[in-house]
This record gives sequence, C-alpha cells and structure tokens, in this order.
Amino acid sequence: MERNFSLSMITVSLTHFLLLCLVVVAAAAASNNITTDQQALLALKDHIIYDPTNLLAHNWTSNTSVCTWIGITCDVNSHRVTALDISQFNLQGTIPPQLGNLSSLTTLNLSHNKLSGNVPSSIYTMHTLKFLDFTDNQLSGSVSSFVFNMSSIVEIRLTNNRFSGELPKNICNYLPYLKALFLKKNMFRGKIPSALSKCKTLQILLLQFNNLSGAIPKEIGNLTMLKGISLLCNKLHGEIPHEIANLRNLEGLVLGMNNLVGVLPAPIFNMSTLKVLILMDNSLSGSLPSRIDLSLPTVEFLELAHNRFSGTIPSSITNASKLTVLALGENTFSGFIPNTIGNLRNLLRLSLANNYLKSSTSKLSFLSSLANCKKLRFLNLGGNPLDGILPSSIGNLSKSLETLVIANCSISGNIPEAISNLSNMLTLVLERNKLTGPIPITFGRLQKLQGLYLAFNMLVGSFPDELCHLGRLNELVLFGNKLSGSIPSCLSNLTSLKSLYLGSNRFTSVIPSTFWSLKYILFFDFSSNFLVGPLSLDIGNLKVLLEINLSKNNLSGDIPATIGELKDLQIMDLAYNRLEGPIPESFGDLISLEVLNLSNNKISGSIPTSMEKLFYLRELNLSFNKLEGEIPSGGIFANFTAESFMGNELLCGLPNLQVQPCKVSKPRTEHKSRKKILLIVIVLPLSIALTIAITLALKSKLIECGKRSTALSNDSILSSQATLRRFSYLELVRATDNFAENNIIGRGGFGSVYRARLEDGMKIAIKVFHEQCASALKSFEAECEVLKKTRHRNLIKVISSYSNNDFKALVLEYMSNGSLEDWLHSSNYVLTIFQRLNIMIDVASALEYLHFDHSTPIIHCDLKPSNVLLDENMVAHLSDFGIAKLLSGEDESTMRTKTLATIGYMAPGLLQTTLFFKFILNFATY
Ligand SMILES: *[C@@H]1O[C@H](CO)[C@@H](O)[C@H](O)[C@H]1NC(C)=O
Ligand SMILES: *[C@@H]1O[C@H](CO)[C@@H](O)[C@H](O)[C@H]1NC(C)=O
Ligand SMILES: *[C@@H]1O[C@H](CO)[C@@H](O)[C@H](O)[C@H]1NC(C)=O
Ligand SMILES: *[C@@H]1O[C@H](CO)[C@@H](O)[C@H](O)[C@H]1NC(C)=O
Ligand SMILES: *[C@@H]1O[C@H](CO)[C@@H](O)[C@H](O)[C@H]1NC(C)=O
Ligand SMILES: *[C@@H]1O[C@H](CO)[C@@H](O)[C@H](O)[C@H]1NC(C)=O
Ligand SMILES: *[C@@H]1O[C@H](CO)[C@@H](O)[C@H](O)[C@H]1NC(C)=O
Repeated sequence: MERNFSLSMITVSLTHFLLLCLVVVAAAAASNNITTDQQALLALKDHIIYDPTNLLAHNWTSNTSVCTWIGITCDVNSHRVTALDISQFNLQGTIPPQLGNLSSLTTLNLSHNKLSGNVPSSIYTMHTLKFLDFTDNQLSGSVSSFVFNMSSIVEIRLTNNRFSGELPKNICNYLPYLKALFLKKNMFRGKIPSALSKCKTLQILLLQFNNLSGAIPKEIGNLTMLKGISLLCNKLHGEIPHEIANLRNLEGLVLGMNNLVGVLPAPIFNMSTLKVLILMDNSLSGSLPSRIDLSLPTVEFLELAHNRFSGTIPSSITNASKLTVLALGENTFSGFIPNTIGNLRNLLRLSLANNYLKSSTSKLSFLSSLANCKKLRFLNLGGNPLDGILPSSIGNLSKSLETLVIANCSISGNIPEAISNLSNMLTLVLERNKLTGPIPITFGRLQKLQGLYLAFNMLVGSFPDELCHLGRLNELVLFGNKLSGSIPSCLSNLTSLKSLYLGSNRFTSVIPSTFWSLKYILFFDFSSNFLVGPLSLDIGNLKVLLEINLSKNNLSGDIPATIGELKDLQIMDLAYNRLEGPIPESFGDLISLEVLNLSNNKISGSIPTSMEKLFYLRELNLSFNKLEGEIPSGGIFANFTAESFMGNELLCGLPNLQVQPCKVSKPRTEHKSRKKILLIVIVLPLSIALTIAITLALKSKLIECGKRSTALSNDSILSSQATLRRFSYLELVRATDNFAENNIIGRGGFGSVYRARLEDGMKIAIKVFHEQCASALKSFEAECEVLKKTRHRNLIKVISSYSNNDFKALVLEYMSNGSLEDWLHSSNYVLTIFQRLNIMIDVASALEYLHFDHSTPIIHCDLKPSNVLLDENMVAHLSDFGIAKLLSGEDESTMRTKTLATIGYMAPGLLQTTLFFKFILNFATY
C-alpha cells in the first residue's frame, strides 16, 4: 500500500515529494518491524482484564523475544509475527485497535475465549491475513459499516458471538480469495445481500441461527464453488430459488427452520453431489421424484420433516444406499411404506411419523425388511394408519435399536414376545393401538428400558412380576387397558420409577405396602380401578410426590395425617372412594397444593382452618361428603364457590356458598382453645424432637445417596415428555414474534431467553440453546436432566422442551418480576426486609430440595442473583441449570475433581452457607 502510494506521488512537485517521502518512510518504519508487533501484542495484553492461568502475564514479558511468546509464530526471514493463536485461553477483555498493526499476520485466532466489546475496524483491513477466527466469544457490534478489506483472507469465522445489524452490502468487494464465511449464531438481521455472489471463490457459507429475513437471493446460484450452505433457523421466507440447483459442487444444503413456502424446485432433487438436504420446519410442498435414487445418488441425510410434502414415498428411495437419516415425519405422505426399505443398510434413524402411510400387508412386511438395517437406533412410525399386526420378526430388528415408536397406528393382535430381543431398547411406545392379549413376561429382559408406554390398548391379564426386573424404568404407562389382578408388591424394586400410570384398568387388590417405599416417585395414577383397603400411613414417605390420583376406586378408612408431609404435592385426587373420618389438620401443610378433590366419599368432621393458607390452591372439591361445621372464610377460601361444598348437609357458612348460616356457639371455641393448649403442650416438644430427627435423617440420607452406585444415567432427553405439553416449532415462532429481538429477556453463552405469549394468552419464557455447539448442547442436556428430575415450587417449572436435531429449546414458566439482580441493582425499586427474608428462605428451600430430597443430589454451580427469578407474588424461583451437576455414586469423586478445577465446586452445605453470606451482603447495602 505504502509503496503504491509513494509511486503515485512521483509526479508531484519536489518539495511535496520530499515531504511526503519523509512521512511515508516514517510510516513504513513504524509499521514494519518487530518492535511494532511487540507493542501491538502488549496492547492486547493490556486489554485482557482476566487471564485465569496467567499465561500472558507470565509469558508475554518485554525482556523476552516476542517470537518466543506463547501463541506467537514468527517468520524466520522477516523476523515478523505471522500468527497469533491464543484460542481456549479463557481470556476476558477487549480487542485493541493496535492489533491491526501486526502487518505481517496471516493467522489471527482468538477463538474460544470470553472477549467482548466491538471489534476495531483496523482488524478488517489486515491485508496479509488469511485466517481469522473469533469463534465463541462475546464480541458485539454491527459490522455493517465496515469495509471488509482483507485482500488475502481465505477464512472468516465469527461463529457464536453477538454481532448484530445487517450484513454489509459490499461484503465481498475486496475478498477475492474467501473460501469460508462462518457467521452463524450471531444476531445478524436484514436480508442476505445478493452481492454475496461476488465472493466467487466461496465454498462454505454458514449463516444459521441469526435473524436474517427476506427471500434467499437467487444470485446465490452464481457461487459455483459452493460446497455447503446453511441458512438454518432464520426468518427467511418466499420460495427457494431454483438457481440453487446450479451449484454443481454442493454437498450440503440446509434451509430448515425458516418460513419457506412453495413447491420445492424439481432441479434440487437433481443435485448429484448432495449429501445433506435439510429442509425441515418450513411450509414446503411438492412430492418426491419417482427416481430419487438417480437424482440424489449420494444423499446421506434427508430431513424433510414438518412440511407439506405429499405423494408417495417412491420405492426407488431404497436404492439410495448411503442414507443414514431419513426423516419424513409430519407431512402428508400417503401410500405404502416400501417393502424394500431394509435395503437402506446404513440407516441410523428413520422417522415416518404422522403421515398417511400404510403397510402393503397386514403383517407389516416392511418391518421384517428393516431387520437388515443393523445400525438402526431410532424408528418412529407413529401416527400412520398401518392397520396390521406386529410380526414376530420385529424381534429381528437391529440390536442397536434404542427407540421404537409405533403409537396410534391401529395395530391389533398380541404384542410379540420377540420384542424382548431388542436388548438395547430405552424407549418403547406402543400406546393408542388395539393391542390385545397379555404384556409379555419376556419384557423383563429389556434391562435398559427407561420408558414403557402401552396406554390405551386392550391388554388383559395381570401385571407381570417380570416388569419389576426393569431397574432403570423411569416411566411406566399402562393406563386405559383391561389389566386385572393385583398390583404386585415387587413394584418397590423399580427404584428409578418417576411416573407410574396404572389408571383405568381392572386391578382389584390393595395398594401393596411396599409401594410406599418408592420414595422418588413424582407421579402416580391408579384411578378408575377396583382397589380396596385403607391408605397407608407410609404415604408420607413419598416426599417428592407431585401428583396422586386414586379416584374412582373402593378405598376405605381414614385419610392418614402423614399425608401432610407431602410438601411438594400439587394435585391430589381421592374422589369417588369410600374414605371416611375427618380431613386431617395436616392438610394445612400441603403448601404446594393446587388441586384437591375429595368429593364423593364419606368424609366427616369440619374443614380444617389450617387449609386457609394453602396459597396455591385453585381448585377445591369437597362435595358429597359428610362434612359439617363452618366453612373457613379466610385466605384462599374467599375464592371458592358453592360447587366446592355442595352435598354436605351439615356445613354452614356464608350465604353465597348456598349452605345454612352458622350459629355462634361458645362452647365449641372453648373446646377448640383447650385443644390448642393440649396441642402446644404435647405436640410442640414432639415436633422439636421430630425436626431434630428429620435433620439427622436428611444428613444420613445424603451419605447414603453418596454411596449409591447408580451411574449417571444417560437418559434420553426429557423422556417423561408424556406429562409435558407439546409445542411445534411454529407455535414457538409465533409465540415469540419470530424470535423478535425485543422479546429477548436474557442472554448467555448458551443462547437466549425470550418472552413469549401463546395463542391462549398464557405467558411463557422460551430458552433457546445455540445449535450444535457442544457446550450449549451439554448445557441443554444438563438442564433437561435436572428439570426432569425435579419439581419444586421454588424451582423454575419446565412446561415443555423442543429438541430437533439443531434447534433445542426449553419452554419455561414466565416470571413477571424479573431477576433478583434487577431488583438489587435498580434504583427505582427497593425490596423490603421481609421480601428479602422470603427470597432467602425460598432460595434456601430450593437448595435444600436439590441437595437432599433427591435420589441424585444436584449442585447448581451457578448460583447468583441473576438466576433467582421472581414471580408475580415475589416468590423466588431458582433457574438456569445449564451447568448444574448431578452427583451420583461412583461418578462423584471424578466429577468433584473435574468441577473443582473449573467452576468452583462447593460441597452442598458449604454452598448454602456461602450463598447466605452473599445474600446478606447484598441485602445489607440497600
Ligand atoms: C523498529 O523501528 C523503530 C523506529 O520506528 C526503531 O527505533 C527500532 O530500533 C526498530 N527495531 C528493530 C528491532 O529494528
Ligand atoms: C523478565 O521480567 C520479569 C518481570 O517483568 C521477571 O519476572 C523475569 O524473571 C524476567 N525474565 C528474564 C528471562 O529475564
Ligand atoms: C513462554 O511460553 C513458551 C511456550 O510454552 C516457552 O517456550 C517460553 O519459554 C515461555 N517464556 C517464558 C518467559 O516463560
Ligand atoms: C498502531 O495502530 C494505532 C491505531 O490503529 C495507531 O494509532 C498507532 O500509531 C499504531 N502504532 C504503531 C506503533 O504503529
Ligand atoms: C449470475 O448468474 C446469472 C445467470 O444465472 C447471470 O445472468 C449473471 O450475470 C450472474 N451474475 C454475476 C454477478 O455473475
Ligand atoms: C425384588 O428385589 C428383591 C430384593 O432385591 C428380590 O429378592 C426379588 O426377587 C425381586 N423381585 C422381582 C420380581 O424382581
Ligand atoms: C382469587 O382469585 C383472583 C382471580 O382469580 C386472584 O387474583 C386472587 O389472588 C385470588 N385470591 C386468593 C386469596 O387466592
């Protein structure tokens, strides 16, 4: 540059020439020796505010040669710095403009740090630079005003930062050698500039996970060297330009999760180089070409789910022998599933769910053919009118099979015993069919099974004891069959069980006493059977129980007072039984209760006033019992209507409840107060003793948990989805206004949290995890794992999860009062001392729950005021389990050492204390 500049000046006058020469020589000298390089690097060092391993502080010292510094490479001849690579140093700080003075630099790699702030424009004009990598930092700012003037650049990687604004229209004007442009996972918006086509040498273009809108410019078809393009998860609309089919070298075309419409241009199915075609979650239509094998001979990954594709699945597809993933679910495909589908020997994942596909034979012969796919791990055929019976050959399916879904397919006949050969099965879903006969006893062999879903069939016979061998079973759903006999006492062997649905069957026994030892169970439903006998006192053992449904049985006897120990219970339905005796006082301790139905029993006595403080109770049904006395009028009772109490002749209370008015009766209250004194005299010392006992028990429980040798289970993500509300991607898109930036309420390394409103008006929060990036995926899995295992009123509640290859999100409760951090740092709002105290107690209860009330103690690892969210009632909810740790038996020691080094692990007790100190410090300064 300088040389060109001085040459052009030769013609000007001598004085000017001399003067200019001086300037030019000075400039050249200034930017032309190793001293400049050193100064530039020292400037960078100065801008690093946190260097956890002190690498730069100890190594980049001015008394040693720059070329010996860590991360620096020099050219031997010119003695200039040519490469700066300080990736994964975990540095925090900013990039100084002086870095642009490294005028011989060819490689600049600052990836995987925590650098933030704007990138100075001097970087984008480094003429010698070939490789620029800023991946995984927190760099921000708009690049739209910059001239990308890097005449040697080959690769630009800005993945996973916070760059925003529009892409520069002239982005490609001065980039004659650019091969790879990675701008994914930022916040770029606006249109994809059509001038991108001037980057003639471009081979890889990754723009996924931004907010780009508008149509895909047809000029993309001019980038004839392009091998891979991903526009996944933006807001692109319009049709896919047929010019894309001009890209004769294209191997990967990823346009999924946009709002693309129209018939897929036929030439796209004629790209003989294509290996990956991902178009899911759009509104694309059209049908597959009849000779798809010839048009896409090399395709390995064909993902068209959740569109409007129609027509038949051409049998020629079975010649596309390289296919490993074939996902055609959620379309309107019809016709037969090809019987030769098993020719796809390399299939790992096959999903044809929710189409109108049929089987050409009643014995589902295509299933026998699938036995040839020895690598198959995931098979979903659910929601198709298959209308046949399951052949025994189903047992010949791949031994690798982990998930098999044939739900809602009009399957009849018996469940073949041979299914039990599939010994690696994790999830088996055969619900909503017309299956008859017994549950095969051979199911006991499916030792890895975590979820068994056979609900809504016509299965008969007894509950096989062999199911009790399934020690890893998390969820067992046998609801809505014709099973009879007794509920076996061996159920207590299913120690991993979280959900048990045996309702709407014909079980006739008592509830076995051993059942109450399943102390980690969250949900159970035995409703609509013929169960008899009383409720055990041991019901209080199920400390983490969230929902209990025993309605419509023949249960008798008193309701045990120990039920009050179920502090997390949200839903209790004991309606339509023959329960008698009073509602225990201890019902007032069911502080999480939201729904209570005791109707149609023979319950007598008065309604305990202790229930007035059940703050969360929103549905109460005590109708048709033998209750008497005054209906409490305080607290939540103000909101209940006559319906809650009808059919109890002897109740009295306010006129709006349509019961007789109460007579004032002195003796009763005296009686009551005597009772109270008795209570204080007898119960108080007792309860103190109990508290001590419980504390001790909790301590020993932790030790016991620590000894348990259950390995950290690699459960499939949120396998308990049966109980969660499901959302389509489109619903999430609508709820967030296309993930509009003004709906973002939080951002982190993992991704973003959006405020959202569902069509039914419900407010929710959606946490979207950055795609693919291993750490975000881990974070998503960790969070799912934790939220799956936990339910507590002081933990953020998960409403649903959405996981689809690259797009992962959690749908969470919306907390209208923001985070504690907002409150602590706001000058407009001040928390009262009582609010502060309550928040402290809430957080402590959440922690206690995580640490103690659990089969696997959980360490939050990222406790800070910004992760404490406040709902409309200022109740605190702990959130963000992205880096939480599950401590379980044998992994504990290794995990502890690992975490110690990285995220500051603290033992549960210590953590709690520290948190208190932290809080108290924060509170002291209000
Ligand atoms: C680099 O140039 C400066 C003048 O700009 C000079 O003072 C210095 O000695 C030079 N350093 C080397 C190593 O040549
Ligand atoms: C360089 O200077 C640092 C202090 O700035 C000192 O600790 C270090 O020992 C010196 N190294 C050499 C090789 O002189
Ligand atoms: C800096 O690190 C490099 C590479 O690890 C090493 O060779 C060099 O000796 C170190 N210099 C100092 C002063 O520690
Ligand atoms: C380095 O760059 C900055 C800004 O980009 C400039 O102001 C400064 O003069 C340069 N320093 C040297 C020593 O060349
Ligand atoms: C792009 O390709 C079209 C034909 O598809 C051609 O007419 C046009 O001139 C090309 N544009 C550039 C900038 O090469
Ligand atoms: C249940 O566990 C007990 C003790 O581990 C064992 O003796 C019994 O055989 C098991 N029952 C079944 C049906 O698995
Ligand atoms: C009663 O219901 C209203 C509206 O549903 C609610 O705002 C209020 O908090 C409720 N009162 C009590 C005591 O639960």
